[in-house]
Amino acid sequence: MAGSTFGKVFAVTTWGESHGPAVGCVIDGCPAGLPLCEDDVQTFLDLRRPGGGGLATARKEADRVRILSGVFEGKTTGTPISMMVENTSHRSKDYSELAEIYRPGHADFTFDAKYGFRDHNGGGRASARETIGRVAAGAVALKLLAELGIDVESRVVRLAGCDVTRQAELTPETIPGFDPADSYGGVVECIAKGLPAGLGEPVFDKLDAEIAKAVMSIGAVKGVEIGEGFRAADVRGSENNDAFLPGLPVTKASNHAGGTLGGISDGADLIVRAAFKPTPSIGLPQQTVTRAGEPAEITVGGRHDTAVVKRAPVIVSSMVALVLADMLLRNMPAKLENLKKVYGE
Ligand SMILES: Cc1cc2nc3c(=O)[nH]c(=O)nc-3n(C[C@H](O)[C@H](O)[C@H](O)COP(=O)(O)O)c2cc1C
Repeated sequence: MAGSTFGKVFAVTTWGESHGPAVGCVIDGCPAGLPLCEDDVQTFLDLRRPGGGGLATARKEADRVRILSGVFEGKTTGTPISMMVENTSHRSKDYSELAEIYRPGHADFTFDAKYGFRDHNGGGRASARETIGRVAAGAVALKLLAELGIDVESRVVRLAGCDVTRQAELTPETIPGFDPADSYGGVVECIAKGLPAGLGEPVFDKLDAEIAKAVMSIGAVKGVEIGEGFRAADVRGSENNDAFLPGLPVTKASNHAGGTLGGISDGADLIVRAAFKPTPSIGLPQQTVTRAGEPAEITVGGRHDTAVVKRAPVIVSSMVALVLADMLLRNMPAKLENLKKVYGE
């Protein structure tokens, strides 16, 4: 009920708060026999870590992962895979003034409205630390997909309203009139290559619907597009339809659909874009209220990302990979011939 679990067959639960002892995840439903070691997961967690450089927080986190279960002699056993990363760099004093005041753009007010009681240290479950569990699980999903020849990659394509062509441009210099006390948004594009046609369920669990939910569940994501996305609303059918080309397997002359038709993958690249809002914590004075509704002014201190988007590509890839791994496994009983392949005639 509380929504910390994602996926039906490849099911992932994330756990932990930003200022608790540790964060992590449990994956249930990963097939046995997948080669997996801590370094496989660490590679992806290292991409998520803040790198400073003017756009990411100066918070230094080692984020070393430990695999606690589900792996034996370098391979998954088919039992739950539990992974943990200790929180080593939290400084609660940075947040102590926030117990009684609501930060604009943050989840403080809404958590209070829902639970009436919250850990005010650094955002609790709403913190970006929660995404460690997603990235650890995503690393396993990405390994599973790689076994099947599927590759998922993401990159920043817009920062503060400017197109980004090279990731080396993710610096304050790219942002016109950059103000280190303010914050900036951007867009991450994710492309999955090598997908078979036929993934996704035709009604509520459409591939695009599952992707939208997965990516929208990342903190600060305010829009998700598949293929042409919102631009499809402005063009004609003759421009938007992708012509099918002769030959087998069936291919298309273009990919405005972004790899799904009727909620089912069409074998073309899956193209997903996620719009991230500017980081809510800013070092400029903002109007707010206390828990008692009294007017207050706040300038958020502590260490924060100036542009969330810089650290976000690996998180978007992880969420897309989790959906695809789940959809691949869910697809197994779709055809009688699949069952015959496993169990014989
Ligand atoms: C990778 C990542 C890093 C983030 N870093 C920060 C941060 O340093 N400061 C902050 O205020 N919000 C940060 N956020 C965004 C907040 O978690 C998010 O905006 C907030 O919980 C409110 O949720 P919402 O924007 O989804 O409505 C980050 C999000 C992600 C995904």
